[in-house]
Amino acid sequence: MDRVTSEMPSEGAVRSDGVALEVADVVKRFGPALPWLRRRGRSVTAVDHVSFTVRRGEIFGILGPNGSGKSTLIRLLSTLLIPDSGEIRAFGIDVVRQPTRVKRSINRVSVEAAFFKKLSPMENLLFAARVYGLEGRAARAAIRRILDDLGIDGKAVTAPMEEMSRGMQQKVAIARAFLTSPALLLLDEPTTGLDPRAKHDVQAFVRETRRLHDVTVVLTTHDMTEAEQLCDRVAIFDRGRIVALDTPEGLRRAASERVGRPATLEDVFLSLTGRRLEDEEEVVEG
Ligand SMILES: Nc1ncnc2c1ncn2[C@@H]1O[C@H](COP(=O)(O)OP(=O)(O)OP(=O)(O)O)[C@@H](O)[C@H]1O
Ligand SMILES: [Mg+2]
Repeated sequence: MDRVTSEMPSEGAVRSDGVALEVADVVKRFGPALPWLRRRGRSVTAVDHVSFTVRRGEIFGILGPNGSGKSTLIRLLSTLLIPDSGEIRAFGIDVVRQPTRVKRSINRVSVEAAFFKKLSPMENLLFAARVYGLEGRAARAAIRRILDDLGIDGKAVTAPMEEMSRGMQQKVAIARAFLTSPALLLLDEPTTGLDPRAKHDVQAFVRETRRLHDVTVVLTTHDMTEAEQLCDRVAIFDRGRIVALDTPEGLRRAASERVGRPATLEDVFLSLTGRRLEDEEEVVEG
């Protein structure tokens, strides 16, 4: 994949010391939207005093059960939400104070990505490319290559999106995010709902892209194996807080000491929270 555009901000003091992302004591609460409901409704602290740093070129995983605050954190990082307190910097640029500058170097993919359903992956991606000032034969070639790397080829490239499986659509969303060669890529559950083959394609693509380009990836997942195989470091999230942060190996080593036998990442979560990762299907209150 070519670096089709250079999205790094050119002016001002952009950090170049190997730090991609700094999250310092960030809090985000959701309360009942309407004042007269406030007495009855409960407020949720979705992200609760979270701090961490991601190095440039790292694949950083956020592993946590449903409702633990993963998507909220990703939205905060991508400037879609504003934190109640705390600071977030991407390449040294304050996400709250300079969202426009930050947006030039980051891209987010969420499970509920929107497309023109009647149009094909090629047409959707050509549209996205045009928004970023990329057109013509170069755009087509770059799109074909990205789609091909993700295992989307043949008729699927030109068939309407609405005829594609959710997994396929998810891959197209990922292709779209890579199209602009973002310096920081935020992937909210990039492989959830994909079959093993599609999951493998997406993971291989993320790894390969990191190998070839100067990209930093922050991804969320429920999947222990994915966190273990794909991520350089993993933050384990529980109820809006980071309960552990280390390499997968480091997390397992610490858990092995706690449980007194060789531990899996599943043991890591269980030994930290007393609960199983999959058990936590919390009822999401609106
Ligand atoms: N816009 C919102 N308004 C009110 N509450 C919200 C909003 N977004 C998220 N929440 C609440 O914040 C908490 C964290 O939600 P979030 O979606 O960040 O979790 P998650 O870890 O991404 O979960 P999942 O694995 O199901 O995607 C939940 O209790 C959720 O109900
Ligand atoms: Mg989520």
